[in-house]
This record gives sequence, C-alpha cells and structure tokens, in this order.
Amino acid sequence: MRFSRRTAVAVIGAVALLAPAACGSGGGGGGSSSKNVEVFTWWADGGEKAGLDGLVSVFDTACSGYKFVNGAVAGGAGSNAKQVLASRLQQNQPPDTFQAHAGAELSDYINAGQVEDLSSEYQEWGLNSAFPKGLLDNITVGGKIYSVPANIHRANVVWSNKKVLSDAGITKDPTTMAEFVADLDTLKAKGVATPLALGKDWTQEMLFEAVLISDLGADAFTGLWNGKTDWKSAPVTQGINDYKKLLSYTNKDRDTFDWTDAEKLIMDGKAGFQLMGDWEAADLDAKGFKDYGYFVFPGNATAYQWLADSFVLPKGAKDADGTKCWLKTVGSADGQKAFNTKKGSIPARTDANPADYPTYQQAAMADWKADTAVPSCPHGSACSQGWQGAVNSAQGKFSTDGNVAALQSALAAAAAQYGPKS
Ligand code: BGC
Repeated sequence: MRFSRRTAVAVIGAVALLAPAACGSGGGGGGSSSKNVEVFTWWADGGEKAGLDGLVSVFDTACSGYKFVNGAVAGGAGSNAKQVLASRLQQNQPPDTFQAHAGAELSDYINAGQVEDLSSEYQEWGLNSAFPKGLLDNITVGGKIYSVPANIHRANVVWSNKKVLSDAGITKDPTTMAEFVADLDTLKAKGVATPLALGKDWTQEMLFEAVLISDLGADAFTGLWNGKTDWKSAPVTQGINDYKKLLSYTNKDRDTFDWTDAEKLIMDGKAGFQLMGDWEAADLDAKGFKDYGYFVFPGNATAYQWLADSFVLPKGAKDADGTKCWLKTVGSADGQKAFNTKKGSIPARTDANPADYPTYQQAAMADWKADTAVPSCPHGSACSQGWQGAVNSAQGKFSTDGNVAALQSALAAAAAQYGPKS
C-alpha cells in the first residue's frame, strides 16, 4: 500500500509543479514576472478552503496589485504537501510563500536556510506586540523571527454524532478514560459499526498522544519532546496499552483513511466519536452537518494541545513584495478574523473579539488563556519532520501488528535519533 518517499516526491512533485497554473484561482497564465503570489498550503477543501478563501478576500483588497494563486496540495496535515514542497525547495523552485507549523517543524526550514528573517517586518507591522510571547518564542531562532502565524489550533478534541450517542443512551461527556471506554462498549453493544472513527498514521499518532497526555500528565508529556521524559518508562508502556485498547473500537480500514474519511463515518451516523483537531468544527460546518458534539479528550483536563499554521518568505521567492503583502495580511486583525472564523482555530493575535467567533472558538479562546499548553508532533509544534516520519511509520506498523514492545522501542529510537541530545 505504502509507496516510498522517493517515488512520492517524484510523482507528486511533478504534478505539483504544474499545479499553480492548473488550479490557480486567478489563472495566472502570465510569465515569470507577473505579480502572482503563489500560496502553498494543504487547505484544498471544506473548512480548510473556507478559511483560506476568507484570507484571500482580505488579501485581494489589501494587496490589489497582486493576484493570489492557489498552490494547495490536498492531504490532511500536509501528508502530501510537505513532500512536494521539499522537492520544490530542493530544486530552487519555491512557491512565493508556504504554510509551516510553528515550532520544531519551522526550525527545519530555518536550519536549512530556506526561509528569510522577518524581524524588521515584525517591527514595521507591529507584530511583536500583537502575538503572545510564548508563540513568538516558538517562531524565533537565534533572535530572529521567520514566520507569521495565522492561528492557534487545538489537537486534543473529540467530536461526536449526537444522535448516535443519544440513541445509545449516552447523555453525558466522558471525563476519564474509564468512562470513555464504557461509552465505546455501549456503542458496540448497540451495534454501532465504528464506535471510534480513525484514520491513518498521523491521525493514529494524534489519538495516541491524547492517551499519553491522560496517562502522563501535561508536563511529563511535554518532557517526551524536550528530553526530560524517558520514552522507555512504565507510564509510556501503560499509554501504549491503553491506546491499543482504543484501537479495538476503531474501523479496520483506518490505515487507508484520511481524517475526512473518518469524519464522514461520524456524519453518516456510522461512528460515535472521533479524536481530531478543531479544524473538524469548521469542516463539519462547511459540509452542513450540524448535529455534532465536542469535548476535550477524557483525562486531558486543562492540557491545550496546540499547533499553529504560519507563513514564511522563502529564500529565492520571485517577488518578495508580493509575499510580504500576503504575510502582512496573515498577521493583520482583519486577516485573522476572516480566516479563523471559518477555520475552527482561534486567532494568534491577542486583540480579537470573541463575540465575532462561532461558539466553539469562543470556548477555545477562554481555554487557551487558562490551560497548560502542550505541543503536538504530527502538527510540528513538538518535533521535526524527520521525527514525524519515524513516528508515523511506527504507528502504521503498530496498527497492523499491535506489538506494544516494538512500538515503544521504535518511539524511543526515534527520540534518540531526532530528539534533543542530552
Ligand atoms: C494543520 C491544519 C489542518 C490540519 C488537517 C494541520 O496540520 O495545521 O491547518 O487543517 O492539519 O489538514
């Protein structure tokens, strides 16, 4: 099933090089000196596209001399886009700007010298005071700032089909793993085909991380990524066993599913629950499915598993002024509102008015202020892309063989290879 990274890069990369001309919203047909701004993301559909469209509407007004060109490559969490991008950067054919997660993943591009310092633009646009310090720290390396964050997403949220739950007599959100498992058993006993909907590798890692947050607590979970918590420790073994138990309630075809396929099981009433980031709120809204519930993963209590999408100025971008106009739009109050009200995320800026946002984001904004922030590996705030790849392949293997010891030693080996060196 799995095709090699090298093949994927070659095949998808070739297609993607054509993509801007083929699917750009502005046609772009012009030569290399045209004022197109190719924006490379993986927001191709549903709530993701709705968020991008919001941003573009502000860009069109604020940057009237430039034309947005859509360079999106579909695939949740950038599973295809990141490979295409790597290949383009290697060939010195960067898009005018690209989406990169704040944190370790952004550091990959910074360390490779692929993105420009934006410190003086931060001064000029007043961004140093617009974003919270913790987030600025995550996009600053060696005293320089390399990207403009568009949002803060939360990863550790469970989404549900309310009717499926109420038909099974489930009326209250579970707050512990034991209660969650009891609900899954109830759904199973009532004949619900998939009590817990799940997708492939990176979505499995998300579910596993939520279990680890419950079993280890927020601080020890964060320690897994900064070298303070031992991947070989007993609580991690416990976490893998608990995760294995949850896997037994999921769809058998999970390894072929993107997050939207799992989400469809919820929408179609074939599943009760799905752990997914809060882009799901926007996507369910965009698809017109109203009967959904949500709660923080049982046992995660006040841990806010965060990630942020940000945009960069790539080295060698054709028209830096056009890119800067996009970046300024991304960081602006209007841009963040137009984007985040449709994307399920909350604004990275601290000056937003919660009343402008849907109910879910209003609650998320309050939690973000009060909770403990913990990072996410599949969404780049915790780990580099090399580490992500190793973790994803370990998860894919575990999905097939269920070997607890093998998963734990693969995760420990990945941390030893890619994690901080003590
Ligand atoms: C991105 C989100 C996106 C999600 C699913 C995450 O990595 O940060 O913006 O909606 O992947 O594709």
